[in-house]
Parts: sequence; structure tokens; C-alpha cells
Amino acid sequence: MRDFTFYAPTRILFGKGKIAELPEHIAAIGKKVLLATGGGSVKRTGIYGALTELLQSAGIEWVELDGIQPNPKITSVEEGVKLCKQNKVKAIVALGGGSVIDCCKAIAAGVYHKGDLWEMVENNDITRALPLFTVLTMAATGSEMNGNAVISNMALNEKKAIKSELLKPVASVLDPTYTFTVPRFQTAAGVADIMSHILECYFSDVHCAAVQDGISEALLKVCIEYGRRAVVTPTDYTARANLMWASSLAINGLTSCGTGNAWSCHAIEHQLSAYYDITHGAGLAVVTIAWFDHILSEKTLDKFVAYGKNVWGIKGEHPFAVAKEAIAKTREFFSSLGLPETLRGLGIHSSEYFHEMAKKAVKDDLRHAFVPLDEEDVVAIYSASL
Ligand code: NZQ
Ligand code: ZN
Repeated sequence: MRDFTFYAPTRILFGKGKIAELPEHIAAIGKKVLLATGGGSVKRTGIYGALTELLQSAGIEWVELDGIQPNPKITSVEEGVKLCKQNKVKAIVALGGGSVIDCCKAIAAGVYHKGDLWEMVENNDITRALPLFTVLTMAATGSEMNGNAVISNMALNEKKAIKSELLKPVASVLDPTYTFTVPRFQTAAGVADIMSHILECYFSDVHCAAVQDGISEALLKVCIEYGRRAVVTPTDYTARANLMWASSLAINGLTSCGTGNAWSCHAIEHQLSAYYDITHGAGLAVVTIAWFDHILSEKTLDKFVAYGKNVWGIKGEHPFAVAKEAIAKTREFFSSLGLPETLRGLGIHSSEYFHEMAKKAVKDDLRHAFVPLDEEDVVAIYSASL
């Protein structure tokens, strides 16, 4: 295991009705906030009404930024920074999924950034940030408990991640009942995203990380069992609760500490979102299978066998057969959730941008991935996914 620092300062308020505790934590910092939301789901479901009532009772004023889109755009970040500065807010409250939370992280840092906000994102130039609170409405990205955010600039076909300890939320409300209304496709995409976060760390060249491996395998099994249940019965509290907590633990540093390599599937998928604005988790489901097929070899076999035996319960003596069955089971699982198996299923019918996207993807340090990937490897993975 490599040396590491683990720092997860976010206070998690987990459970039904836990939102009631949020205002006291906000008020300890300030009484004027930016309240940010997405395309309107929180207004339809009533979570917005519950939150604003609580803020009002606690004497907390808010200014609103709504309409943040999936794959949040730099234009929303610019709008939010302007609102924060004009209204001298003391903190930000993000109410939504990963896209709303990520946008708010960039706004939180953008308020203190002198100069162009896209340059801040491109250079990960974060020096200070407003305190951030989140009320999570879907289980997927883990943004509620980490310091990462991913912002898109559609004019440039770019999607870039920023990362800083300063962006870790002060407190996050995780009420599983808020995810009852997440549509089937988004639930499934969220499960694929959580699993990918775990797999990107689990498939590591660091051996003997028994704690991280054990946690990862348990979380993967949770995703498989409760992912199945949540798409069949959206109001299954146990399923939603387990997925929600898995989403946070999958990418809060716990499974990656001491083991991390550069993340291959995320680098490859982020380009698909940057060019085609597709749903992140659905893109990952497709890319992960093609990546698995591409990297399976004598050198990586042990990890595939561990994954097959410990996560999927595959019995068998022949290592390559176990590895291939593990890949097949992963593919079948994603498909059973209703996720597409190909890029065509996501509306991408041409290889036109594969080379351009591959060039950008490898910049995410894919030389230092579990299996180092160059541009040709990435083009091959896109082509196999088509
Ligand atoms: O916009 P609204 O109306 O709220 O609807 C959203 C949106 O259409 C809907 N939704 C969310 N909660 C709902 C709901 N609909 C009904 N009921 C609810 N309770 O679901 C749709 C997708 O929401 P979004 O926030 O885009 O999904 P997700 O949480 O998957 O976030 C995806 C973004 O996060 C980035 C992705 O790249 C993508 O841009 N990621 C962020 C990471 C991080 N910060 O650590 C890591 C990830 O790997 C990922 O890259
Ligand atoms: Zn992800």
C-alpha cells in the first residue's frame, strides 16, 4: 500500500427528515445563501418547498440560481458567481444531483477567482471557496462528500474536472426518500457510475490493499443487489438507502487511498459527454465493458479473477474463463438495469471524433493508468463501444 492522507470533513446528515437539522449548520456560518437547483425536479417533488420553509423559519435568506443542466455548463457557473457577488452571500446550498452540486463547487471557488472562470477550471486554480452545503437528490457521483467537480464548456467541446479540499461540502443531507422519484434510467446510470468509481480504484497495480479491496467488493455487491431492487421498486427505502451511502463511500477517498491510478473509463467517458452531452453513468456502462475487454491479459488476470470470485461469486478453476464470465456478468447486469450496451444506444452513430476525443482523454495522465493507455488504445475502446 502507498502512503496516503485521508481527509473527509463533510458532516453527513443521513435519513428520513434529516433536512430539519441543516439550517442550524448553515446559520452557524451565515444567514444569506445562494440556493441552486436543476431543471425543476425538486420543485415538482416538494423537496424545494420543504427546504425553503426550513430556511425561512431559521431566518436564512436566499437568492436563487435554477436551471442548472446535467453535465453543468460554465455559463451556469458564471451566472452563479455573479449572483453570489451581487448579493454578498455567505454560503451556497446545492439542492439536486451531482450536476447541481458540481456547478455550486465551481461557483464557490469562482467567487474568489480574479479573471476568466473557464481558465480557473482548466488550470484547477482554486485558492479559496465559499462554504458549501448539499441536499442530495440522486445517488451517483459522490460529489456530496468529495472535493471534485466536473464542468463542461460546450463551445469548446471540453469537460474538465477541478479538485480541491476547499470544495468538500461542510454538510450534506442524504435522505433516501428524496431519491424515490429518480427515473429508472437515471437510477441505473447512477448505479453504473458508483460501480465505476469503485472499479477505477479496485483495478489497481497496488497489491495487498486488503482493507480497500474488501470495502470495494462489499460496495460493488451492494450496487448489484440494491441497484436491481431500486429499478424494480423505486420506493424501496432499503435499496435507496444502501445505494445512497454507497455513492458517497465509493468516491470520498476511502477506496482510493494508498491504491490510486489514473482513472481510465472516466477520462474516456468525459470526452463522450463533452462532444455529445450524454448521461455520464450510461456512457460509463458502455465504456467499462470495452475497457475490460481491452485490458484483460496475463498481467491483469489476477484482479479480474478476484473481481469474478469475490463480487460475482463465480466458481471455476480456469482463470481466463472466470475473468471472461465476470465481464459478461457485468455487461448483463448493466443491460438488465435498462442501460444501453453500445454508443449507438446512446445516440452516437459515428467514429468522426474518436481520434480528437482520444487525444484529449489521454491528457488525463493515462500513461499512469492501471494499464497505461495511449491514443490508439483509446480509439480502439471507442470503436469497440460503437
Ligand atoms: O435537473 P433536475 O430537474 O433536478 O433533474 C435531474 C436530471 O435531469 C434528475 N434528478 C435528480 N434527482 C432527481 C431527479 N429527477 C427526479 N427526482 C429526483 N430526486 O436526474 C437528472 C440527472 O441529474 P444529474 O445531477 O445530472 O446526475 P448525476 O448526479 O449523475 O450528476 C452527473 C454529473 O456529475 C459529474 C458527471 O460527469 C456529470 O456531469 N460527476 C461528478 C463527480 C464528482 N463531483 O465527484 C464524479 C463523477 O464521476 C462524475 O463525473
Ligand atoms: Zn463518475
